[in-house]
Amino acid sequence: MSIVLVRNGERVHALADECSHAAVSLSEGEVSRKGIECWLHGSCFDLETGKPSSLPATEPVDVYAVDIRDGDVFVDVTVTTN
Ligand code: FES
Repeated sequence: MSIVLVRNGERVHALADECSHAAVSLSEGEVSRKGIECWLHGSCFDLETGKPSSLPATEPVDVYAVDIRDGDVFVDVTVTTN
């Protein structure tokens, strides 16, 4: 399992590093205010929910719980929002 971490100000988001459309790595995409955009076909995934806001992807990617303690980032891969 690969995870992509995205820092947004003081927050850190953890998402499955695999686009739900064609299983390419989301960590090679671009991050914007709308989310993380898949580099291959351009679907954009919300950092909070993992839901795509644009086609061709129609299924969300898993989003994992993140805890930051003393500057260290902990990701609970057993807890997803999907
Ligand atoms: S592979 Fe990501 S949108 Fe198609």
